[in-house]
Amino acid sequence: MFDFDRMRDELALHYDLAPNPELAAEMSDIYARMDRVISPADWAVFAPYVAAINTLKKEKNAVILAHNYMTPEIYHGVADVVGDSLALAIAATEVEADIIVQCGVHFMAETSKILNPAKTVLIPDLEAGCSLAESITAEGVAEMRAKYPGAPVVSYVNTTAEVKAASDICCTSANAAQIVAALPEETIIMTPDQFLAQNVANMVPEKNVVWWAGSCIVHEQYTAQDIRDFREWHPSTRVIAHPECPPEVVAEADFSGSTSGILDYVTRERPEHAMLVTECSMASNIADQLPDVDFVGPCNMCPYMKKITLEKILWSLHAGVMEVTVDPDVADKARHAVQRMIDLSRELGL
Ligand code: 13P
Ligand code: SF4
Repeated sequence: MFDFDRMRDELALHYDLAPNPELAAEMSDIYARMDRVISPADWAVFAPYVAAINTLKKEKNAVILAHNYMTPEIYHGVADVVGDSLALAIAATEVEADIIVQCGVHFMAETSKILNPAKTVLIPDLEAGCSLAESITAEGVAEMRAKYPGAPVVSYVNTTAEVKAASDICCTSANAAQIVAALPEETIIMTPDQFLAQNVANMVPEKNVVWWAGSCIVHEQYTAQDIRDFREWHPSTRVIAHPECPPEVVAEADFSGSTSGILDYVTRERPEHAMLVTECSMASNIADQLPDVDFVGPCNMCPYMKKITLEKILWSLHAGVMEVTVDPDVADKARHAVQRMIDLSRELGL
């Protein structure tokens, strides 16, 4: 269990973290990136944390890699690199700083550690898990191999290091279809997201894609009827769905792509109204850079991503916690699967 009392007592000894409107005003350049979605009163609460984190990052030679589902004060206030899972994995191969603070979920921090065994990788809360990563173990991969002899295993990066180590290659939602299409075998095992696998199967009909039955608790909740009802109510809305959604939801959408693919699509198309069928922070984070787009519709919150807060990031940097470690033998095998994905993505021009 996270020890909030210890964290708060210790932070209070070293930092003045009271809401500070004067400091908030001094940091108006940072606030300008999120003023459409964060109130001035909330910014006065966040500003002391943002200032302390940015100072500490320099002192400790640390870099913050943040996923697109982080809240706006993290995404715009303290992150050095933001992006989807593929972009963050690639960024992790290029880090020069001594410490990586992964603002995202545990499998992302493990991926950074796998790619950077000599660096210190911290995650502000070890309980930031993922329903997909928890759905399969290395034994599950072995079961699939026994059921489909000779078929390669393509594992989503949303898996533990042990599962990556047991796989032939990884994928993300940004490259899954292209990686499956590029493999020479006809039958391909995809783990652990059944919906990503089914969406890939629809895009690559020449392959026999078989899958593990995991799912994302955020995206599995959407239904095709939700989308139809919403379109009836708001006909001019462009619907953009993440490929972790069930295939019948993706079929109702105008576009489907990874979180970075979603940003690229909305930036290019500039729809008047856009419904992002994904995690809530996605729309909040891009609202200020796309002032002409009205983001509408319901969204679902990822409880794991939301474990990461400014307060815990400050604590993580201050105390050097929570360090993410991966057994070196497992890391070597997992690195092969992740690096193969990165290399193939580059070769395919993704
Ligand atoms: P991408 O950012 O790679 O699209 O992944 C979404 C996700 O759910 C990560 O947990
Ligand atoms: Fe896992 Fe879904 Fe949360 Fe991403 S949004 S971390 S896939 S539970």
